[in-house]
Amino acid sequence: MKKVSFAEFGGPDVLQLIDAEEPHAGPGRIRVAVRAAGVNPVDWRLREGQVLGAHPLRLPAGVGLDAAGVVDEVGEGVAGVAIGDHVFGEGADTYAEFAVLSAWARMPEGLSFEEAAGYPSVVETALRVIGEVGVLPGQTLLVSGASGGVGSAVLQIARERGIAVIGTAGAGNQDYLRGLGATATTYGAGWVERVRRLGRVDAALDLAGSGVIHELVDLTGDPRKVVSIADLAAPELGVRFSGVAGSVPAALAEAADLIARGKLHIPVDASYPLAEAAAAHIDSRAGHTRGRRVIVV
Ligand SMILES: NC(=O)c1ccc[n+]([C@@H]2O[C@H](COP(=O)([O-])OP(=O)(O)OC[C@H]3O[C@@H](n4cnc5c(N)ncnc54)[C@H](OP(=O)(O)O)[C@@H]3O)[C@@H](O)[C@H]2O)c1
Repeated sequence: MKKVSFAEFGGPDVLQLIDAEEPHAGPGRIRVAVRAAGVNPVDWRLREGQVLGAHPLRLPAGVGLDAAGVVDEVGEGVAGVAIGDHVFGEGADTYAEFAVLSAWARMPEGLSFEEAAGYPSVVETALRVIGEVGVLPGQTLLVSGASGGVGSAVLQIARERGIAVIGTAGAGNQDYLRGLGATATTYGAGWVERVRRLGRVDAALDLAGSGVIHELVDLTGDPRKVVSIADLAAPELGVRFSGVAGSVPAALAEAADLIARGKLHIPVDASYPLAEAAAAHIDSRAGHTRGRRVIVV
């Protein structure tokens, strides 16, 4: 089968489309014929040799956590899913023609494979950080970096739970944030004052890692009301860095339910064929994805 792989850490040019042995579904796993794979920033971070503490890798390594596809092998002990089902979920080396998934859910009706591949990791992350920051219905959550994959999910889940959101994004994404129910403002010079004018902030999430932890603590008045997923220096200011995944099956079930009820939609910013994974990484790394980028197999 065709698979994207890298034999050394480095820039996007280390990615190669190779012929590889097909993986098989062991106990508790399924294999899918991948139709689309989500592109997450962690994919290029791992390719560069970052975050290896949290995600140990042996070279040569495959790429990709998220996938949507058609089940074609069901491992021992797996129930409730059959060959031919359309599923989305998380696994390993999903930029490939076949991949093994460790967590999955049936795709909601009407969702394309391309769209479905964008949800798994971002919804797990969004649910986790909303829980960890402890924001309640009726309160206001500030989201720094609200227009990306995780931000798009956070805004819609918060809206569904009755949590008001103030989101920061680039000038071109202000209407996008408003469309997801948030009050929008731009990041950059003067942003703290702009947020202050919008009202009280009960809790805050740093999703962009743009060096704003100090300001988020100031705006909430309490480091325990701030969580970052992207700034490793956050703990120096007493702020929690969230890096350990929660329950992916629970997140997928909630995503499927929200999507089916029309409460969650993460747009596909751009799609790339498997052979152009390097371009997807370059574009993701530029840091201005709206929703999710996707590899189409
Ligand atoms: N720790 C964890 O468990 C975990 C899990 C998932 C992701 N992450 C990390 O969290 C980050 C976000 O992930 P993602 O998938 O949502 O990324 P993404 O889809 O690539 O989104 C990046 C977003 O950052 C925004 N942005 C860029 N510069 C900004 C700034 N100075 N201030 C505020 N926002 C800015 C962009 O907004 P505009 O386009 O509007 O400029 C863009 O929407 C990544 O660094 C990723 O590695 C961590």
